[in-house]
Amino acid sequence: MKILVTGGTGYIGSHTAVELQLQGFEVVIVDNLSNSHADVVDRIEEITNIRPEFHQFDLIDREKTKSFFAGHPDLDGIIHFAAFKAVGESMADPLMYYRNNLDSLINILQGMKDNGLKNLVFSSSCTVYGQPDELPVKETSPIKEAWSPYGNTKQMSEQIIRFAVEAYGLKTIALRYFNPIGSHDSALIGELPLGVPNNLVPFITQTAIGLRQSLNVFGSDYDTPDGTAVRDYIHVVDLAMAHVVAVNRMISASGKSDFEIFNLGTGNGFSVLEVIKSFEKVSGESLNYKIVGRRPGDVEKVWADTSFANQELGWKAQKSLDEMMGSAWKWEQALADKKSSNKH
Ligand code: UFG
Repeated sequence: MKILVTGGTGYIGSHTAVELQLQGFEVVIVDNLSNSHADVVDRIEEITNIRPEFHQFDLIDREKTKSFFAGHPDLDGIIHFAAFKAVGESMADPLMYYRNNLDSLINILQGMKDNGLKNLVFSSSCTVYGQPDELPVKETSPIKEAWSPYGNTKQMSEQIIRFAVEAYGLKTIALRYFNPIGSHDSALIGELPLGVPNNLVPFITQTAIGLRQSLNVFGSDYDTPDGTAVRDYIHVVDLAMAHVVAVNRMISASGKSDFEIFNLGTGNGFSVLEVIKSFEKVSGESLNYKIVGRRPGDVEKVWADTSFANQELGWKAQKSLDEMMGSAWKWEQALADKKSSNKH
């Protein structure tokens, strides 16, 4: 079985490529390397002993995407990760986000239609819910007005896919990720934020390793037990495994409908301060942080109702917060070791 993984050298894509290969799938990666490195392909090979086929091009390029699909008529499924994902950047340049995230999706759907390919797994996000009225949030909860162009591209993508599925007889599973963190146990692949990280966990580990002075905790006056914002953090390997299950479900035609949506989280909410405490416990480091004002655009609290994914997919996230923080720290230390050995 051959699976195209777009964005396969990125954070979630690379972990998914590994799990697919470990379970016997043949993986073809397409990535433009705009936010990742070509040597991730070497790392995937190192972990699995199999080198995935790799193509470097931009999926917003219609002609290149068309000829790629024409040359790969034997794909059994596609997992589409490739997208921009920074909320703040999308506020500053919305058109860049709409063009990148929507054009690439449309080109892929076109390639599927033209070549009779059926199965798509799409990377969606809990951001489609905004601040839900009820927690934990279910897949059937209303989609609220988007808080950012990034979030809007995920909402629009789901709608585009829904109509394409109907019109062209495709099968799609949209996976709404909560907050993916951590890295592969080998510490050979992980999250590689360019510049100053936006997300909490890479900021924590970079502060602890000495790359940043201090972590800003955004807001302590939320309506949560300790006043800091609450999220559902999920280990990236748990998330990757859910993609393998989703691909198998589509290939074996065991889905309940042709367009299914699943929340991927643990079902547990943790506050920013709880995440920091867990990090300090597993690393033995004391983190330099200070409480500052809220970050514009942040929701107060969100965590997943995972019962639909648990029952229907037979999948459940396994890793605890401590394990997630432990693996994120191991990855940061591995990066630091690599940097210092490059210097010598
Ligand atoms: N936070 C800090 N300090 C930081 C960074 C983050 O206190 O330096 C806090 C945030 O305010 C938030 C929590 O840590 O309360 C998590 O923030 P992240 O930036 O790690 O994650 P978000 O929940 O903001 O964003 C994630 C994804 C987005 C997605 C969004 C949906 O990164 O792609 O979830 O809620 F859109």
